[in-house]
Amino acid sequence: MSDLPDEIPTFDTAKFRQVLGHFPTGVVVVTAHGDDGPVGMAIGSFASLSLDPPQVLFCPARTSSSWPKIRAVGKFCVNVLAEDQEDVSRVFASKATDKFAEIGWRRSGNGSPLIEGVLAYIDCEIADVLDGGDHEIVVGRVQDLEVRHEGGPLVFFRGGYGRVTY
Ligand SMILES: Cc1cc2nc3c(=O)[nH]c(=O)nc-3n(C[C@H](O)[C@H](O)[C@H](O)COP(=O)(O)O)c2cc1C
Repeated sequence: MSDLPDEIPTFDTAKFRQVLGHFPTGVVVVTAHGDDGPVGMAIGSFASLSLDPPQVLFCPARTSSSWPKIRAVGKFCVNVLAEDQEDVSRVFASKATDKFAEIGWRRSGNGSPLIEGVLAYIDCEIADVLDGGDHEIVVGRVQDLEVRHEGGPLVFFRGGYGRVTY
């Protein structure tokens, strides 16, 4: 006879995804420009963190191939996507080798790719990288920021894209 319970409780990851998917987020593309060219990834886990000092955060997965390249550069640009930029989000959520091939962009003040048509951008240098389980928590010190367009944001909710009515 064993003292072990009949069923070993396992964490329900599908339920975790389903429940957390009910929290809507905006979508940003975090970019950097390394020696090998521009890199970028779509991010929903972006947030404002601190006013003094001015800091923001995002959480890249440890499996991301773009994040180690961004980390090596030491600075990045947060591109806040507009409601008509779903195609841009899809490109930067992919594993495409040249995500910038069909994207209009120029260099921001800190040298990172600033994507055409974004609502706003925030240039940062990496201030800290903290443990976040299978993700990391990146704290960025804000260097420069600007609103580019007064439109509606791209929103991600329950696994799909949407817009805000306001
Ligand atoms: C709306 C949306 C939000 C996302 N948010 C995150 C995120 O917060 N962290 C993350 O690591 N990946 C996130 N992803 C997935 C990454 O964009 C994707 O896995 C990554 O860019 C894959 O390419 P890489 O290997 O070049 O990093 C998100 C994707 C989408 C569509």
